[in-house]
Amino acid sequence: MTDPIEQLMHEHQEGLAALDRLEKDARQVAAEGLSPETKEAMSQALSFINGEIRGHNEKEEEALFPALAPFLPSPGGPVDVMLAEHRELWTLNDRLVAELAEPSPDRVNLSQTALGIVQLLRSHISKEDNILYPMARQFLGEEGLAEVARKVEALQK
Ligand SMILES: [Fe+2]
Ligand SMILES: [Fe+2]
Repeated sequence: MTDPIEQLMHEHQEGLAALDRLEKDARQVAAEGLSPETKEAMSQALSFINGEIRGHNEKEEEALFPALAPFLPSPGGPVDVMLAEHRELWTLNDRLVAELAEPSPDRVNLSQTALGIVQLLRSHISKEDNILYPMARQFLGEEGLAEVARKVEALQK
């Protein structure tokens, strides 16, 4: 059985690579305006966010976070903070989708929204990798992690 924490961390690495590309595109849009190429690149970034990242967050929200909840304070605990950041991501995502769909998108808004996503997700991933996931390893133990892995597998079917 795949270690669910390793799997989630691997998905973070793929996410970080996509964020590097999105940052480059956002800076190019700020400097030169939206070209057909950068529009296509941003659409691809949005597809990644709404496919891979949405699926990743679902694994956390449906499998990992509920397993961790009994060990952590709430409200105001680390899982609540992570959930709030997931919601913040979808707000920025919807904004970027709307801005990109405008007939003549404003390059400053577009770039700022995209960079907001980059910043939010880099910081979010860093907190999960360095704080939340190590906590999960510590609290859940082998049995708890195996249960998380089963739920993650079920979500992938
Ligand atoms: Fe997350
Ligand atoms: Fe994550």
